[in-house]
Amino acid sequence: MIRKLGITVVLFSASTVIFADAISDMFTQYKAQGVTSIDAKAGQAMWSKEFKNQKTGKMRSCTNCHGNDLTQAGKHVKTGKEIKPMAPSAYNKRLTDVKKIKKWFKRNCKWTVGRECSAQEQADILSYLQKL
Ligand code: HEC
Repeated sequence: MIRKLGITVVLFSASTVIFADAISDMFTQYKAQGVTSIDAKAGQAMWSKEFKNQKTGKMRSCTNCHGNDLTQAGKHVKTGKEIKPMAPSAYNKRLTDVKKIKKWFKRNCKWTVGRECSAQEQADILSYLQKL
C-alpha cells in the first residue's frame, strides 16, 4: 500500500514537470526575484529598442534576428539561418521550455544589449511575446 502510494506520487510530480506551463513557471521565478508588476508595453519597447554595441559601434536590437513581424520567421543576422516565428500563435513550440527560454535570454541579451537582461526586463518581454 505504502509502496503503491509512493509510485503514484512520483508519477504525479513527473507529469507536473512535463506539463507545467513554462511561461507561468518563469513568472513565478521573476516574482521570487522581486518583480512585482509586469508591463507588456515596456517589453515591446525593449524588444525594438536599439543598443549601441561597445566594440563595433553599430546598433543592435532583438529585431536584428527575429524580424519586425513576429508572426513571420526571422533570419539570424550572422549565420543567415532561418529562425521560427517568435509569436506562440504562429509557432506552437515557442516559449514552452524553461531551459531554452533562460539560455536564449542570456545569450541574446548579452549580444544585443551588452549585458544580461534583468528579471524585470525578461518578465516584461515575455508578457509581450506570449500575447502574440
Ligand atoms: C544574433 C541573433 C539574435 C538576436 C539579435 C536575438 N535573438 Fe533571440 N534567438 C536567436 C536564436 C538563434 C534563437 C534560438 C532559435 C529558436 O528559438 O528558434 C533565439 C531564441 C530566443 C528565445 C527563446 C524562445 C523560446 O521559444 O524559448 C528568446 C526568449 C529570445 N530569443 C529572446 C530574444 C531577445 C529578448 C532578444 C533581444 C534582447 C533577442 N532574442 C535577440 C537569435 C537571436
